[in-house]
Amino acid sequence: MWTRDALRDLIRTKMQGVKFIVVANREPFIHRYDGDRIVVQKPASGMATALDPIMDASGGTWIAHGSGDADREAVDEFDRVRVPPDDPTYTLRRVWLTKEEEKGFYYGLANEGLWPLCHVTFTPPVFRPTDWDMYRAVNRKFADAVLAEAAGEPAFVFIQDYHFCLLPRLLKEANANLIVAQFWHIPWPNREVFRVFPWQEELLHGLLGNDLLGFHIRHHCLNFLETVDRTLEAKVDTERFEITRGGRATTVRPFPISIDADEHAAHANSPAADEAMVRWKRRLGKRTELVGVGIERLDYTKGIPQRLLAVDHLLDTTPDLRGKFKFVQVAVPSRSQVPAYSRLEDEVEGLVADINYKWRDRGWEPILFLKEHQGPTDMAALHRLARFCVVSSLHDGMNLVAKEFVASRADDDGVLILSRFTGAARELPDALLVNPFAPHEIADAMKQAADMPADERAKRMRRMRQQVAENNVYRWAGKILSGLLKFDFPEPAEAGGRGRDSKADDVLVPAPDLYARV
Ligand code: G6P
Repeated sequence: MWTRDALRDLIRTKMQGVKFIVVANREPFIHRYDGDRIVVQKPASGMATALDPIMDASGGTWIAHGSGDADREAVDEFDRVRVPPDDPTYTLRRVWLTKEEEKGFYYGLANEGLWPLCHVTFTPPVFRPTDWDMYRAVNRKFADAVLAEAAGEPAFVFIQDYHFCLLPRLLKEANANLIVAQFWHIPWPNREVFRVFPWQEELLHGLLGNDLLGFHIRHHCLNFLETVDRTLEAKVDTERFEITRGGRATTVRPFPISIDADEHAAHANSPAADEAMVRWKRRLGKRTELVGVGIERLDYTKGIPQRLLAVDHLLDTTPDLRGKFKFVQVAVPSRSQVPAYSRLEDEVEGLVADINYKWRDRGWEPILFLKEHQGPTDMAALHRLARFCVVSSLHDGMNLVAKEFVASRADDDGVLILSRFTGAARELPDALLVNPFAPHEIADAMKQAADMPADERAKRMRRMRQQVAENNVYRWAGKILSGLLKFDFPEPAEAGGRGRDSKADDVLVPAPDLYARV
């Protein structure tokens, strides 16, 4: 069983003397102005939450885009600030992007191009050559920051996500004394979908700079291997999950991400959460007997409209629930400058208004829509109040909200309604699995959750809780770091950009059986 202490031990004993550098576009702490005051916010990002324990244990450096309007006030002359602000354990190094860079690299290529491309949600990706130029330039900018932080010494570099496809190659070419891994937090689509990416060869060549490349599930690894096989000159070994190009090998593996279930459960069942539950109950009103909940970023991959249509369908087909049922939808505004996100915002607001208008009755309406960030205590309180939580992503790499809901339910109650097209569905077969594109299926699952006897709810929830407790975020981090430790730093004479022979396959068993069925 992996724990925070076991991860800390691994890092302290095995990674001593080697720098540990994480690169992610999103920073773990954002300094913002609130009037004249500077406040610190944590972003709504499962990726950022998952990395927290590794950073805490490693005391390393996290390099990220400084996106807050007060970020420059908080850093020293080297653009560094120690975090977490209350009890610092590691360093955040901020990289500054111009408005044009942010527009092309983050909003454009990453979020209008790669995000819809990889999620396959029928939102056409947008590809502009100017965005690709910015993406390249920003990858180079981050490479400079990593190389400066590594300062020529051996370092492990752990890159996050689709913002940095070109970075691994840039790093390896500049300094062979780095061991580089990347985790892809979103799905990798099949080769037919990926073909439409205009600069696919350059992008794949960049990713193959990694020593180790991780996806959530085996299915995404296989999609990646096939994409490379059909696109580039490379030796793709589907037995060993390894790709060799130009004499260098990249090991590809599934690492299902997770949460700290114990810590989450303790927080969700704290006196503060009890108090928050009382406040929510008051807000939901005396007439509310049954609560459903959905919490996520306001993102078109999350299937929010389909879920609202399901609420409408449920009320159509289940008159008993009228006047008594409340669906609470928390949607945290995200990437609002991208047109597809502002269109979604309008669509969701329109649907909420229409459905509430249709069913409004003597002060009751079925949907409480909150377009705002909620703190962890309030989210946990909502999870505990709910008969069911709906995660209806049209496609999702893993989805940590599903795991948070399960971890919150120390009372072994509550039903998880989960999209089949999430990585989490592979691990949580005791959820009610639905096709998120079909509102009537989500509505049927809502009805089933409303009618499910308490003993069946408890049986399913206990099994899910055990799964999430055992496969926690420490296991995810521990497996990736153990993978990194299998690579040797080159002898000084070799450290001039040469490749390495793969040695990773002895520990990194390609496919946990759970994922082998995909
Ligand atoms: C997904 C991505 C993360 C990202 C998060 C929030 O989970 O995989 O890399 O941080 O969404 O999105 P944002 O664009 O606000 O960082």
